[in-house]
Amino acid sequence: MLVSIAWVPAALAGLIAIHFAQKRCFPYFWKDVFYLWKVIQYGVRLELYKKRRRVFTVLDRFVQRAEQIPRKPFVIYDGVPYTYRDVDERSNKVAHVFEEHGAAKKGDTVALLMNNEPDFISVWFGLSKLGCAVAFLNTNIKGKSLLHCFSCCGAKVLVVGADLLDMLEDILPNLLEHNISIWAMNAESCLPGVQTLLDKVERAPARPVPAERRAVTSLKTPTLYIYTSGTTGLPKAAVVTHMQSTKAAAGFWAYGGHADDIIYIPLPLYHSAASLIGVGGTIEMGATCVLKKKFSASQFWNDCRKYNVTIIQYIGELCRYLCSQPKSELDWQHKVHMAVGNGLRQDVWQEFHRRFGEIRMCELYGSTEGNLCFMNHVGKIGAVGRSNFFYKLFFKYVLVKYDKVRDEPVRNKHGFCIPVAKGETGLLLSKVNAQTPFFGYAGSKQLTERKLLRDVFAKGDMYFNTGDLMAEDKEDFIYFKDRIGDTFRWKGENVATTEVTEILGLLDFIQEANVYGVEVPGHEGRAGMAAVIIRPGNNFDGKKLFHHVLDHLPSYGRPIFIRIQELMELTGTFKQQKFKLVDSGFNPSVISDPLYVLDNVEKSYIVLTDAVYNRIVSGQQKL
Ligand SMILES: *[C@@H]1O[C@H](CO)[C@@H](O)[C@H](O)[C@H]1NC(C)=O
Ligand SMILES: *[C@@H]1O[C@H](CO)[C@@H](O)[C@H](O)[C@H]1NC(C)=O
Repeated sequence: MLVSIAWVPAALAGLIAIHFAQKRCFPYFWKDVFYLWKVIQYGVRLELYKKRRRVFTVLDRFVQRAEQIPRKPFVIYDGVPYTYRDVDERSNKVAHVFEEHGAAKKGDTVALLMNNEPDFISVWFGLSKLGCAVAFLNTNIKGKSLLHCFSCCGAKVLVVGADLLDMLEDILPNLLEHNISIWAMNAESCLPGVQTLLDKVERAPARPVPAERRAVTSLKTPTLYIYTSGTTGLPKAAVVTHMQSTKAAAGFWAYGGHADDIIYIPLPLYHSAASLIGVGGTIEMGATCVLKKKFSASQFWNDCRKYNVTIIQYIGELCRYLCSQPKSELDWQHKVHMAVGNGLRQDVWQEFHRRFGEIRMCELYGSTEGNLCFMNHVGKIGAVGRSNFFYKLFFKYVLVKYDKVRDEPVRNKHGFCIPVAKGETGLLLSKVNAQTPFFGYAGSKQLTERKLLRDVFAKGDMYFNTGDLMAEDKEDFIYFKDRIGDTFRWKGENVATTEVTEILGLLDFIQEANVYGVEVPGHEGRAGMAAVIIRPGNNFDGKKLFHHVLDHLPSYGRPIFIRIQELMELTGTFKQQKFKLVDSGFNPSVISDPLYVLDNVEKSYIVLTDAVYNRIVSGQQKL
C-alpha cells in the first residue's frame, strides 16, 4: 500500500518544479497560449467565411443578438437603456425611409456627421442594412477639409445630427451644387435644401429589412470609411472592409471579455476605437455599452459606479486627465477590471494603477488603415504589444534602421533596408500580401502608394510604412518610441502637418511654414509648432493669424507656438528639416528666433516670454 503511493510526492515535486521552471523561463507561457488560441479560433472563422462565400458580418451578429437577447440593454445613453431590439427596429426604420425615398441603395456611400448618440448607431446600421458603405466624418473639422472628406469617398448623401447643423452653413451651397442630398436628424426643416429625417423615421415601419440587401460574399468588401490624418495632406478616408471590422470586434473577446461585461465608451464614434472595437466588441460578446456624448474627467468614475462598468476604453490622454483629477476616497470603488486602448505611457500607467487599483490595462496598437495589430495581452507596463514565434508566422513585420536627420530609412549598398537588433529602435514596417492586405484610401491611388515602401529586402517586395518608431526587447515586448514624418498626436487626434502648413500658407504675410510637434512636460503627444518665414515687406500679425486658424483648423490642429525664422533649413533630399526644430523645442531662453504663443484670452498670438514659458512647463497655464 505504502509503496504504491510513494510516487505521488515525487510526481508532485516534479510538477511543481516544472511549474516554477515554466514560470521562470517562460513567465507568459499560459497567457500566450490562451491568447494564441483565441487568435487561431478567429482565424479559422474567417477562413470558413472565405470557403462558404458568405461573410457573417458584425451587422449579421447584431441582428442575431436582437433575436436572441431582444430585451437586453445594448446601449445606455444619458441614463436611458436602448435594448438590442430597440436599436434593431430603429435601424430598420431608418433603412425604410432611405429606401422609400430612393435616397440610398446597395453599393452607395452615405456620409454621417453626428456626435455620439444612440441614433448614430441606428443610422449607421440602418444604412448598412441596405448594403451602403458609411463614411464617418470627424465633427471637429471645418469648411474646406469637410468638403474634401465628402468628395473623396464619393458620397451622394449626407446625414447630419441635429446639433451639428450650424457646421453646414458655409458649405451648404457647395454641397447642393454637387447634388448631394442632405438629411438632418430633426423633425422640422430649418435650412433650405435640407430634408428632415427624424419625423420620417418615427413614422416608418419597424419590420425587418430583407437580409439579402446587406449580404456580402467577400471579407474585402468596404463597409465603412473612417478618416485619418494619415501622414500627409488633408484627411484621408481609410477603407474599412468587413475583414477589419470583424477583427476589431473580436478585441474585447480576445482579451477575455464576456456577455456580462458593461463597456464604457467615452471616445468619439467617428474613430475606429469607439465604433469598431467598442460598439463592434459589445455586439460580439452580446454585452452592454454605456455611451457618452463627450468624455468628462469629473463624471468618469461616477458613471462607472452608477452603471457597474467593467471595461473602459481609453486613449493615453484620457488616463492622464483622470490622474490629474483631485484624489477621492472613492477612487478604488468601482468594478472596472479591464481597460482597452492605446497610447498609455509608462509613468501615467503606474500612476493610474496607484490611483484606481489593479485594472488590467490592455494596450492595442494598430491604425485604422494598417494591416498589423499588436496586443499587450499580459499587461506589461509600458509595452504596446507582445510578439512571439507564432505571432510572427501570422504577421510579417520588421523594424528597420531609420535616419532621423535625413528623414528616411537607412539603405545598405544594395539599396535594401537594414533590420535593427533587439532592443534598438527602428521604423515599423508590415509586409503587404494576401493574408495581410492593405486596402488603402478611398479615391486616391497616390496617397495609398505613399504609405507603401517597396524593395525593402528584395526587389519587388512591398511593406506598409506605419510611420512609427518602435523597439522590441528580449522578451518580445514591443514599445512605442516616436512617430516620424508628417503627423503628430495632440489631444487624442492625429494632426497632419501638411494640412496645417497649407492653411498657414493662405495668409498673405506668411511666405513659408514648416509645421511640427514639440513635447510639453505633463502632456501626452506633441503640441503644434510652426516655423514660419515672413514675406518680405510684411509683418507678423498675431491677431490675424489667431482668427485665421480659429476659422480653418480644428482646435487640436491649431499651432500653439510660432517661431519666426529667416531661412528654412532643408534635408539632403530637399524636404523641410523638422528633426532639429523638434529637438530645439520652444524655450525662449535657448532659441534666439522670435517666439509666439497662442493665447485664447487675448485672442491672439502673443510673445512667448520666459514667464509664460515657465507657466506652461509647470502646468499653471493650460494649453
Ligand atoms: C446636378 O443636377 C442637375 C440636374 O439634374 C445637373 O444639371 C447638374 O449637372 C448636376 N450637377 C453636378 C455637379 O452633378
Ligand atoms: C450594480 O450592482 C449593484 C450590486 O451588485 C446592484 O445593486 C445595482 O442595481 C447595479 N446597478 C445597475 C445600474 O445595474
